[in-house]
Amino acid sequence: MLVELEGVSKVYTQGWVSICALSDIELQIDRGEFVAVTGPSGAGKSTLLRIIACLDRPTTGMYRLDGQEIQAVSKAQQARIRSERIGYLSEHPHLISDLTVAENVEVPLVFRGISRVQRRELVEKALNRVGLQDRMNHLPGHLSIGQQQRVALARAIVAQPEIVVADEPTGRLNTRSGRELMEMLLQINRSGTCVVLATHDADLADMAERTIDLVDGRIVT
Ligand SMILES: Nc1ncnc2c1ncn2[C@@H]1O[C@H](COP(=O)(O)OP(=O)(O)OP(=O)(O)O)[C@@H](O)[C@H]1O
Ligand SMILES: [Mg+2]
Repeated sequence: MLVELEGVSKVYTQGWVSICALSDIELQIDRGEFVAVTGPSGAGKSTLLRIIACLDRPTTGMYRLDGQEIQAVSKAQQARIRSERIGYLSEHPHLISDLTVAENVEVPLVFRGISRVQRRELVEKALNRVGLQDRMNHLPGHLSIGQQQRVALARAIVAQPEIVVADEPTGRLNTRSGRELMEMLLQINRSGTCVVLATHDADLADMAERTIDLVDGRIVT
């Protein structure tokens, strides 16, 4: 099992107010699965995805990624697990505007002791998979929003993660670009990478193998 959550809860505390964003989540995701997470705004989708992506930790309960208990490791180890095993994509591409497309995609590889030649190969491969190999030397500002999001997808997969966590990646895209990005996520999944996608779009959720519906921080299906 790649992802295992047992009794996971997440409570955000601000001053005197506590918000329970996730309650007692039990979830298992296998290698190579494509899981869609749906539910109304505020249901806890992003909170769940951030925990799965090792960007955050549960308040209580246990999260294991490939058998490793995340709350048992140091913050530095957690960051390393994240960079080596997880690709994360959000609604905003968060590209660095004065780096080229290729340089943006290369960012996750830079501090990993990979040779320049090998980095180039991985970057080209990732850009090929999102159909942007001919835009390598462009600046992000010269691309459409849909293309920028595909650059962010290339950056998420360049280090060949076992799991891609995508939080509303089509949220800012028109229907056609959204479908294109979804097709790419499906393609990445077919080649063996696990994908966890949060979406409001029922049509996209229907394309996943399995759907998890969240309401008020609880799984209802
Ligand atoms: N950093 C935070 N501090 C305090 N409360 C938070 C924080 N992040 C999320 N919350 C709260 O936790 C609950 C779940 O939020 P979350 O962002 O996970 O929902 P979501 O399902 O992703 O919603 P959306 O569809 O709008 O993106 C909400 O009530 C939200 O206000
Ligand atoms: Mg969200």
